[in-house]
Amino acid sequence: MKTTPTPAFMLEPILDPNSDAGTSRDAIGLGQRAQEGLLNTRHGTILTLEDISVSFDGFKALNNLNLYISVGELRCIIGPNGAGKTTLMDVITGKTRPSHGKAWFGETLDLTQMSEVQIAQSGIGRKFQKPTVFEALSVFENLELAQKTDKSVWASLRARLTGEQRDRIHEVLETIRLTSSMHRPAGLLSHGQKQFLEIGMLLVQDPQLLLLDEPVAGMTDAETEFTAELFKSLAGKHSLMVVEHDMGFVGSIADHVTVLHQGSVLAEGSLDDVQANERVIEVYLGR
Ligand SMILES: Nc1ncnc2c1ncn2[C@@H]1O[C@H](COP(=O)(O)OP(=O)(O)OP(=O)(O)O)[C@@H](O)[C@H]1O
Ligand SMILES: [Mg+2]
Repeated sequence: MKTTPTPAFMLEPILDPNSDAGTSRDAIGLGQRAQEGLLNTRHGTILTLEDISVSFDGFKALNNLNLYISVGELRCIIGPNGAGKTTLMDVITGKTRPSHGKAWFGETLDLTQMSEVQIAQSGIGRKFQKPTVFEALSVFENLELAQKTDKSVWASLRARLTGEQRDRIHEVLETIRLTSSMHRPAGLLSHGQKQFLEIGMLLVQDPQLLLLDEPVAGMTDAETEFTAELFKSLAGKHSLMVVEHDMGFVGSIADHVTVLHQGSVLAEGSLDDVQANERVIEVYLGR
C-alpha cells in the first residue's frame, strides 16, 4: 500500500522548540511528553490566578479570587453550594472567560487568551462529575481514542499506536485497576469503574494539571478509598485540583485545602486549620 507523505506543516512544531512557552503539541503526535519540557514552571508554581472575577448578569460568581497551585501539589477546594468551585474550573479550562484578572499556566501561558482546545492541549485535563466514556467501545479503545486527541483527525485515522503509546495505555490500565477488563465494553463497567476509566482517559494524555470536580460522588466506600490512594499516587507526577464535598475523602488526601465562599478564598491551610477557622464554621453552619 502506498503511504501518504506527511505534509510539511504537520511535521513543524507550532512553536520554536527553544521557546519555553508550552502550547506546542504538534500535529503528528509527539504528544504531551514532548511538550512537558516546554511548560515553564521555573518558580515552582503551575497555576496562578490573580484577582479573578466572573459576573453572570451582574452576579459575581467569582470575586477577586487569588489562588496559587504548586507543581506536584494535591489541592482540595471545598465550599458550600454556589461558592464558585465549578466556575473556577470553567475559568481555568477556558469555558468561561473572567471579566477581570490574570490566569497563568506555568510562567508563560495566559489562559485567558487561549481556546478550550489549546488549554487542554497545553496539559490541563478536566474530569466532569458525570462519566463520559464511549459505552460501546472497549476499555482499551476508550484509552486509545483519548490518547489520540492530540492529533488532527487525519493523523488520528491513519495512526497506529507506537510501542510507547501502547506501553502507556497498559501502565494506565494498571494504575486505574482495569487491566483485567481492558477488552470489556465500557458500558458494562460499574459507575465507579467508569469514573476510573475517565481518569485513565486523562492520564494517557499526560496532563500536568488535573482538575477533578466531585470525583467520588456516587462511589462506594471501597471505590472512594481507592480514589484517595490513586490521587495520592498521582500527586508529585501531576498537580491536582480536587473539588469535593465529602470531608472524609478530603481529609484522607489533602495536605492543603482552600475554602471558597461567595466567589472568594475564605481560608487556606490544612483541613484541621480551616475546619477550626471561625469564618469557615460560620459559613458552613450558617451562624
Ligand atoms: N452560566 C451561569 N449563569 C448564571 N449563573 C451561573 C452560571 N454558572 C454558575 N452560576 C452561578 O454562580 C454561582 C457559582 O456556581 P458554581 O457552579 O461555580 O458553584 P459550586 O461551588 O460549584 O457549587 P456546587 O457545590 O453546588 O457544585 C452559583 O450561584 C450559580 O448559580
Ligand atoms: Mg459545582
